[in-house]
Amino acid sequence: MGFGLSDSSLLRPQAFINGEWVDAKSGAEYPIINPANGEVISHVADVGQFEAKNAIEAAQTSMELWKLKSPTDRSNVLQRWHDLIIANAGDLASILTLEQGKPLAEAKGEILYGASYLKWFAEEAKRIYGDILPSAQDRRSLVIKQPVGVVAAITPWNFPNAMIARKVAPALAAGCTVVLKPAPETPLSALALAELAVRAGVPAGVFNVLPCLKAEEVGGVFTASPIVKKLTFTGSTPVGKLLLRQCADTVKRTSMELGGNAPVIIFNDADIDLAVAGALASKFRNAGQTCICANRLLVQEGIYDRFLAKFTEAIQAFCLGDGFDAKTTLGPVITEKALNGIGSLVKGALGQGARLVTGGKPVESDGWFYEPTVLADVQADMDIFSEEIFGPVAPVIKFKTDTDAIAMANDTSFGLASYIYTQDISRIWQVSEALEYGMVGVNETAISSELIPFGGVKESGHGREGSKYGLDDYLETKYICMGGLNA
Ligand code: SIN
Repeated sequence: MGFGLSDSSLLRPQAFINGEWVDAKSGAEYPIINPANGEVISHVADVGQFEAKNAIEAAQTSMELWKLKSPTDRSNVLQRWHDLIIANAGDLASILTLEQGKPLAEAKGEILYGASYLKWFAEEAKRIYGDILPSAQDRRSLVIKQPVGVVAAITPWNFPNAMIARKVAPALAAGCTVVLKPAPETPLSALALAELAVRAGVPAGVFNVLPCLKAEEVGGVFTASPIVKKLTFTGSTPVGKLLLRQCADTVKRTSMELGGNAPVIIFNDADIDLAVAGALASKFRNAGQTCICANRLLVQEGIYDRFLAKFTEAIQAFCLGDGFDAKTTLGPVITEKALNGIGSLVKGALGQGARLVTGGKPVESDGWFYEPTVLADVQADMDIFSEEIFGPVAPVIKFKTDTDAIAMANDTSFGLASYIYTQDISRIWQVSEALEYGMVGVNETAISSELIPFGGVKESGHGREGSKYGLDDYLETKYICMGGLNA
């Protein structure tokens, strides 16, 4: 296996534990499949409980030294890791497209996005401040920040690089060590990051990667371990709930970045071209497989027909195909199971009275492609209104008043991202404040970056990733009372 990479040593099919590349003790391996053509890319070690326990112990031992390194030393390591990611961005993007399917240009964008978290937290490592609080005459009250401890991270397949960087960078900056279980579908991107971590000088045991097919087995070791002090997870809400229940026994700190059901509310006074472009970019990014993808397009009645026509016309320009083809603007979905799930949701919506405007079926091919699809006249009582679609399907819903739009937008157990399109400044404030979401994009759907606190409310989870708030999730606050000062 070489796949035209400049540096084929970035393709690592083993687990990475305590600074060493290892096979599963059982000898088990599993195939990684290219979703664009169903071909096996590579076989990767399929580790289990034994390796997970070893990795946790290594992370515990290495933390003793890592947390004592100066902030500048930790910062320098993260900065070197960032620089190596940038230097190898082309290869990392190719690995990502191979195992995940997104178009190569989008994969390159993800690599730069992921690297931005390393750079950001390399800088933030030097800004972990405490406080001196107002105190009585005979004492001084201080607050210091300390690393939470060993962190277990479980990351998804939709951003096989950036979601790792977004967790590992703040953890390492804070002085924690990490044991990572990447998604079974996309371990190669994680393992390539580990290879670059070695070259950057991340000490043995500080970052460990456990590829595995049976996620529950390794996840169970993470949640049961008293050594693991924090679990950070990006994935579905049902799995997040299960992990939260499992973490209760050891009362772990948790960060949960879970599902979404993002509304894009387009008011009559919206700049229609801006709204079409924003909805399109959000809905079809990564073939609709992001937690912050437009999941429901709520369009006011006065602009509904015009929006639908322009949006549908714009969709015709998408070029479906293998991510390595320069013409491709829309890749496959991740698995056959995902493809079938999207098909069932569309069928269900049509059965419940939605109108098919374009698309509506899988594409005949060896890969897992679904046509970009628009469903009009979707109603709040249809299943597709409440489900996270995770595919290139846009349900469009008509509304009359601002109150209706807010009620519909909030009529979901999710609360991750939401978007509004309007030119009215009062409406911008009223609606932004009324939306029960962790993030609101106003006349903008490209809201993600290392500079902002990414995260949700309600059943979309808790904790924030990125920005000055992103370190808090990896720090404990300790109060120290110095008394007897007048004695
Ligand atoms: C996600 O889908 O969970 C992440 C999307 C982003 O970071 O923009």
